[in-house]
Amino acid sequence: MINIGFIGAGSLANAMHYPSVNAMDDVCIKAICDLNEERLQSTAERFHVAQTYTDYHRMLDEVELDAVYVIMPPVFLKPIVLDCLAARKHVFMEKPPGTSVAEALEMAHAADHHKCIAMCAFNRRFSPVVVEAKKLVDARGPITQCMVEFHKYHIGDAKWDYYNVGMFETDVIHVVDLLRHFGGEVTEVDSYVQTWYSDQENVFNALVRFEGGATGFLTANRASGTRHERFELHGNGIGAYIRAPQSAEVYTENKTEPTSLEGSGLAGSDQAYMTYGFYGESRHFIDCVKTGEQPLTNLFDAAKSRELVDRILEGGRRP
Ligand SMILES: NC(=O)c1ccc[n+]([C@@H]2O[C@H](COP(=O)([O-])OP(=O)(O)OC[C@H]3O[C@@H](n4cnc5c(N)ncnc54)[C@H](O)[C@@H]3O)[C@@H](O)[C@H]2O)c1
Repeated sequence: MINIGFIGAGSLANAMHYPSVNAMDDVCIKAICDLNEERLQSTAERFHVAQTYTDYHRMLDEVELDAVYVIMPPVFLKPIVLDCLAARKHVFMEKPPGTSVAEALEMAHAADHHKCIAMCAFNRRFSPVVVEAKKLVDARGPITQCMVEFHKYHIGDAKWDYYNVGMFETDVIHVVDLLRHFGGEVTEVDSYVQTWYSDQENVFNALVRFEGGATGFLTANRASGTRHERFELHGNGIGAYIRAPQSAEVYTENKTEPTSLEGSGLAGSDQAYMTYGFYGESRHFIDCVKTGEQPLTNLFDAAKSRELVDRILEGGRRP
């Protein structure tokens, strides 16, 4: 049995991470910590957790834990993650990995030093439709092209405001990471960043070249009409068109009928925490804790996604 503690009983944690680990037979949520008493108690009741804390130092001292989930906005992450690692606990955190490449690397080196597993959650990689579509494309040889598209409406009253951490660094990073997952190591980046109908950067375009020769495109428009997310993967006579977490259509060799993949069927559930990859990423983390293997999205890897974020932003800010 892997004993875990949570620091953070907020909204995303309650919607996705508590249900994910709660669904595993080999994981026990031993304790929860949150500064907010109301959230702490309601989450503890919902998931039947007896030990509750408002001071995470006490939780780390008093409860026998193998791993800690630290789920909160990126501005608060680093000191808490470093304390957990110093207490020799494996750590799972949400994206982004802190507020900068430097913070991500500091946490990565601390995990290395204390011989702990530290994983940054990028759920898109683990969404069953993405996993399955990628498997079909990869089976025919290297990919040639990939595309990630992630639009939202963040103007007017819906303006982005998240503890002064930008929407590209915090949210669009999901698909920056996915582009790396599809394409591999990045060699060249060209980008164009714009500000439309707002006083914050909100239109992002990037063209990326990968070591293996493939090219990747990123488009994210946060002055658009609504949330719309779509990915493409092209390989040897195969093209996958993915609308995660719902579905994907995979076309091969000029056939007009695609192979259709359906998210809830693949996940065995229509719950978002299952279809959108949250369960899958936690399963991967717990398996790595058990085997000692490095997670796919360990903090050194997450730092590379954070670095690509900077390259796209800095290169794209043209007069
Ligand atoms: N994967 C996704 O699609 C997705 C979507 C939304 C948010 N996120 C990520 O999730 C994270 C936010 O998670 P959330 O929505 O559950 O957070 P939240 O802001 O709703 O809650 C954070 C909780 O942490 C607690 N907290 C803060 N500092 C603490 C401390 N020192 N000790 C104990 N408790 C403390 C707060 O009291 C609060 O209850 C961010 O990293 C964000 O980027 C990911």
